[in-house]
Amino acid sequence: MADTNDILKVENLKINFFTRKGKVYAVDDVSFSLKKGETLGLVGESGCGKTTTVLGLMKMIPPPGKITGGRILIKGEDIIPLSEDEMREKIRWEKISMVFQGAMNCLTPVYTIGKQMMETVQEHKEMEYLQAKKRIINYLNLVGLPEDIIRRYPHELSGGMKQRVVIATALFLEPEIVICDEPTTALDVVVQAQIINLIKRLKKKLGLSVIFITHDLATEAEVADRLLVMYAGKLVEIGTNEQIYGKRGPIHPYTEKLLKATPRLHEKVEELSFIPGTPPDLVDPPSGCRFHPRCLEVMEKCKKDIPSLIEVEPGHWIACWRNTND
Ligand SMILES: Nc1ncnc2c1ncn2[C@@H]1O[C@H](COP(=O)(O)OP(=O)(O)OP(=O)(O)O)[C@@H](O)[C@H]1O
Ligand SMILES: [Mg+2]
Repeated sequence: MADTNDILKVENLKINFFTRKGKVYAVDDVSFSLKKGETLGLVGESGCGKTTTVLGLMKMIPPPGKITGGRILIKGEDIIPLSEDEMREKIRWEKISMVFQGAMNCLTPVYTIGKQMMETVQEHKEMEYLQAKKRIINYLNLVGLPEDIIRRYPHELSGGMKQRVVIATALFLEPEIVICDEPTTALDVVVQAQIINLIKRLKKKLGLSVIFITHDLATEAEVADRLLVMYAGKLVEIGTNEQIYGKRGPIHPYTEKLLKATPRLHEKVEELSFIPGTPPDLVDPPSGCRFHPRCLEVMEKCKKDIPSLIEVEPGHWIACWRNTND
């Protein structure tokens, strides 16, 4: 999987939460890479570890969570050994930044947008007030907002406008990698489409590399060049947009099910398919393949042995015993 175009490379990342109930295996041996200028989609059911994975990349795992293994290489430099000061001073927001899940609801209600954005700049960069203000206005314009937004309070903005503010703030320190964690959830479909178009446009214009998280495979088909499918803390399939959505379609039984459960426009079906059962408790994940209790094609081997990701065609990786010969 090594490639000199990789701006980010994640190797065997492990993240656990040490709770009273026990150790949660939230991210377990996850490896992938992100190329310069690429949009990588990360999908999977609620609780499968999407947010935890990307919070790991920012080194912002909340307690009782911890990165317990692996490497996170940004342009070849492993950031796991870096101290919190080093992360804050040279990596977070400047090299890799994030639009947090639900961030638009976290804007402080008592401050104007300008004041909130100014605080973010001043926390990270020494910049004259006027220069910072100019930059804030530039970025607000870039995301399609007028200058006078800086004097408004969050309650005076629509959901879409707030999300644009959050995106502008994430781009502000000119990171090359931007993570968007469900940036369109809770917005109506028209505004969702506008935000997705905005992200696509910004990616092109600024040459960003993007990790885009959503539950929704239809949205992902719109934005992603490649897809990572996660199930219960593990990656089960990696493929290009064409490989997953094309004629051949996905190979892993979980991805197949996930796609079939996605409604499509202009296609009448009697009933949408769903995935039987519920995702497992990650304190005590199933043995072998974690999907085996819900898989209709389960074999004896799946219950005992953990399948690793195998490349079944160039760039298409599957972790499933059904696709391995041994
Ligand atoms: N602060 C925490 N303390 C304990 N367990 C946590 C914590 N945060 C997440 N987890 C556990 O880690 C696992 C992964 O959660 P995560 O939030 O990463 O999932 P997700 O894929 O982002 O889900 P969603 O689609 O709902 O946002 C879950 O089992 C969750 O219960
Ligand atoms: Mg999440």
